Amino acid sequence: MEVIILPTEHDVSELVATRLQNLIAKKPDSVIGLPTGATPLQVYKKLIQSFKENKIDFQKITTFNLDEYLGLGPKDPNSYFSFMKEVFFDHININIHNTHVLDGLTVDVAKECDQYENSIHHAGGIDLQLLGIGHDGHIAFNEPGSALRSRTRIKALTKETRQANSKYFGSLDHVPTHVLTMGVETILEAKECLLMAFGEHKSRAIAKMVEGAISSSCPASALQFHPNTKIIIDEQAASKLSRVNYYKSVFENKPEWQLKAEGFLSN
Ligand code: F6R
Repeated sequence: MEVIILPTEHDVSELVATRLQNLIAKKPDSVIGLPTGATPLQVYKKLIQSFKENKIDFQKITTFNLDEYLGLGPKDPNSYFSFMKEVFFDHININIHNTHVLDGLTVDVAKECDQYENSIHHAGGIDLQLLGIGHDGHIAFNEPGSALRSRTRIKALTKETRQANSKYFGSLDHVPTHVLTMGVETILEAKECLLMAFGEHKSRAIAKMVEGAISSSCPASALQFHPNTKIIIDEQAASKLSRVNYYKSVFENKPEWQLKAEGFLSN
């Protein structure tokens, strides 16, 4: 796990967008795991901008979203499928048939989750998984207490997560109680993970994930097992970490060849 601390949300989003752009340039049929929420919005905007400038071609990529609300169909404005269309898919040349979001209206949850796992497998696995993190250390909707070997399944949301997401629904009462979500182990099977976070309100979760014990009480801490994970955060989200100077010096002193090899600098 490498921690990259940059001054602002803008810098973080720029670096992550560059990584995605370089990945797609190198492997046009990349399989990419995507989050919803506020965290990736600037990345999606930057990728749309690059597409408009003819710097990136999404035609052959395949995407898998992390999660979807149970009970919300793709046409529901609050579904994550609608969210992805609105903030990203409708603005790029992605083949919509190559985008995957769990079906929140399924009548057979187990089958839907199994099929999702199978689809990821048949696509060749996820090349790069983009992640945000909840205040309580959740990744996707693997809430605290989630098995660190969990697969795609139904999960009940905590009141805190429903509260955090109620801004999209008008009131807490309208936020669904359950979701379908990739499991922690599903995420750990991605070849590369990039987790982004901004702001003081994420600093506790970041410190627990990076410097705390690996524990289901902070599902994101399972990323410590992953051999190719980068935690890319702003100064505020890094404010409760104890080894800030070390993390900064590692990134600042990286040679150009390594930044290129890792896809953070264009060739
Ligand atoms: C959403 C997801 C969640 C969010 C997390 C942070 O698909 O998987 O884990 O990444 O709840 O949400 P924001 O970015 O809104 O702070």
